Amino acid sequence: MKIVVIQGPNLNMLGHREQNIYGPMKLEQIHEQMGSVAKENNVEIEFFQSNLEGEIVDKIQECLGDADGVIINPAAYSHTSIAIRDAISAVALPTIEVHISNIFRREEFRAKSMTAPVSTGVISGFGPFGYHLALISLLQILGEMEAMKKAEDEQAKTQSN
Ligand code: DQA
Repeated sequence: MKIVVIQGPNLNMLGHREQNIYGPMKLEQIHEQMGSVAKENNVEIEFFQSNLEGEIVDKIQECLGDADGVIINPAAYSHTSIAIRDAISAVALPTIEVHISNIFRREEFRAKSMTAPVSTGVISGFGPFGYHLALISLLQILGEMEAMKKAEDEQAKTQSN
């Protein structure tokens, strides 16, 4: 099982940028913690960060056939990018959207996410812990999907006998 974590623009600045909003944790520290949880669960995890919309679209597309699920913080592109929304929709993988801050209690322009309606779920306002919540939620979803597929396969097998 493989999960890809995609981080949008300016998230490489975590630990430095607006600490009053995003806290002191660096992106590498967040990824380190996620890596440990993934390892404990025998799941492969890959991390990707880009400040460029097209690179994020390319990465989402690459997930098709390569990953089982996606965790994405599209950052500012959440509020503007139809291209990222369409890419999430096109690959149709279980996708959890994360926002470190609570986008609903900030400026009005942040309250609208273009990408949220095509995501499986959204976690917003729990700080860096939101990434952990996203990971355990995705593991739960993928586990349920696997169990469902196994049951369907077994049913098909008994029906063909
Ligand atoms: C963010 C919220 C966005 O509005 C902002 O542009 C970001 C980070 C968050 O994680 O809280 O860069 O996605």
